[in-house]
Amino acid sequence: MNDVFLRACRREPVEYTPVWLMRQAGRYMEDYMKIRNNHTFLEMCRNPEIAAEVTLQPVNRLGVDAAIIFADILLPLDGMGLKLEFTKGEGPCIHNPVRSQRDVDRIPILGGEEMTPYVMEAIRLVRKELEGKLPLIGFAGAPFTLASYIIEGGSSRDYHQCKKMMWGAPQVWHQLMDKVTAVTLNYLRAQVKAGAQAIQLFDSWVGALHQDDYRQYVLAYSKQIIDGLKDTGVPVIHFANNGSTLLEAVAEAGGDVIGIDWRINLDEAWSRIGFDRGIQGNLDPSVLFAPTKIMQDKVRKILDQAGNRPGHIFNLGHGINKESQVEQVIALVETVHEYSRRN
Ligand code: CP3
Repeated sequence: MNDVFLRACRREPVEYTPVWLMRQAGRYMEDYMKIRNNHTFLEMCRNPEIAAEVTLQPVNRLGVDAAIIFADILLPLDGMGLKLEFTKGEGPCIHNPVRSQRDVDRIPILGGEEMTPYVMEAIRLVRKELEGKLPLIGFAGAPFTLASYIIEGGSSRDYHQCKKMMWGAPQVWHQLMDKVTAVTLNYLRAQVKAGAQAIQLFDSWVGALHQDDYRQYVLAYSKQIIDGLKDTGVPVIHFANNGSTLLEAVAEAGGDVIGIDWRINLDEAWSRIGFDRGIQGNLDPSVLFAPTKIMQDKVRKILDQAGNRPGHIFNLGHGINKESQVEQVIALVETVHEYSRRN
């Protein structure tokens, strides 16, 4: 039974620093590609047996300290009447983006099991197969990040449509955020009920906002989700990508652990967040392309910055790149474990 990750989430003493990687299941792994070559990404997500198998691939191969359920932050759109597709080379595409009050009014708020029964079934399967040996993380997109896809209709560089609604039609924005928040809380509570032992909230694109706008248009919704999980007792990791300028506000929204990207020193980020929280991060995912010796130096520097204070979970500063080499990822995990044990 390896509960080092869960103990670190609670800032309890640990023998070594736990590590897992955002997007640890994916295209950089041969075993993943063997399945992916015969299925679309969404088919894989919607098939609980496949999702469970792919969840366990990095666990067996990399020696990480936690599994994260193979799913996607966009799956709840299935239950919101939004037509999601992943187009080759272009990523996610929502064919009927939300732009008006009428569009918002049409969105139903379903329970988690109704919305995405296959995610909950995959969680139950993974828990059974892990037999308590390793904890399983569930996740969802944070309201801003999910709303950005729903409004833009896909990935975006500057979030013009999103900001246009935020500033130009704030009543529509707030009603959409209300619905996204309710759906996400249902989605996450169902994941916990199905067996998720920690939750990560991904605010992948929130770095597009000034702190004033984060506070005025976003903070309360992320907070509502995190507060709404408190009675479950499950630790919440609140990850704000590109969030160096937002750290205090993100911490205010909540999270037992705050996830940070690589653009800031971990010790500086931790002192700003407050040492009464855990911290997760923060190696630049591109460092996996550096010579092993340089990668190891950068890993050790992060571990040195964390020091002996409990509550650090090692991770990349964002998702792993699909060109990464598995051997280098294994070396990364070993370096974290060995160096933090000696410390
Ligand atoms: O961490 C894990 O191993 C769990 C799996 C996971 C996926 N997506 C699988 C996936 C997680 C945690 C996510 C979250 C997710 N999805 C986020 C937040 C994390 C982040 O990176 O900020 C976001 C923004 C999405 C939306 C999304 N899904 C995009 C933009 C894309 C396309 C990007 C690309 O690289 O093509 C996806 C697809 C996706 N989600 C893949 C995987 C393994 C690749 C699908 C494939 O096989 O083609």
